Amino acid sequence: MNNDIKKVFFSEEEINNIISKLGEKLTADFKDKKPLVIGLLNGCNPFMTDLVKKIQAYLTLDYMKVSSYVGTESTNNLVIEGKIPDVKDKEVILVDDILDTGRTLKTIKEKLLALGAKSVSLCVLLDKPEGRKFDIQADYVGDLVPNEFVVGYGLDYNGYYRNLPYIGVLKEEVYTK
Ligand code: IMP
Ligand code: MG
Repeated sequence: MNNDIKKVFFSEEEINNIISKLGEKLTADFKDKKPLVIGLLNGCNPFMTDLVKKIQAYLTLDYMKVSSYVGTESTNNLVIEGKIPDVKDKEVILVDDILDTGRTLKTIKEKLLALGAKSVSLCVLLDKPEGRKFDIQADYVGDLVPNEFVVGYGLDYNGYYRNLPYIGVLKEEVYTK
């Protein structure tokens, strides 16, 4: 698996530092709010697992399963699988691995607000601003990445590489295998 990586963007240590900083910001903003942290599966893990350990607040956890990607392309069918958590009057922190076109987080944020969430803050490990097609920004961003397809630490290519402890770019030959 490691042999498939052309270039490392963020090492394990860099990711830990990024998450610690996000945790500090979220602690400052949510320490008195009892937020509901909702992760978008599958990409939110392991980011969400590490992130919540850095937030010092009474919080609850839940998940939603959403999919929009096939291979390296975002498709137009965003599918919410299963039950949506009860968000009525909750201060929600919505967590995902990466903000790309913005379709997923814009759609889910609007949905949760329509279901009565008091607020919905978006927290992503990575932001790919050049990929944006929808008018949406994240409130908490770990770091930026250029318009390249990245894998590792939750980010997948056809379901694989989520378990890499770092984030990198795949060699071209992996796509043609
Ligand atoms: P969006 O709806 O286009 O913003 O896409 C967000 C989702 O696409 C993320 O939750 C990821 O699952 C996936 N995604 C976007 N860019 C990448 C990437 O570079 N690598 C892996 N997955 C990605
Ligand atoms: Mg994904």
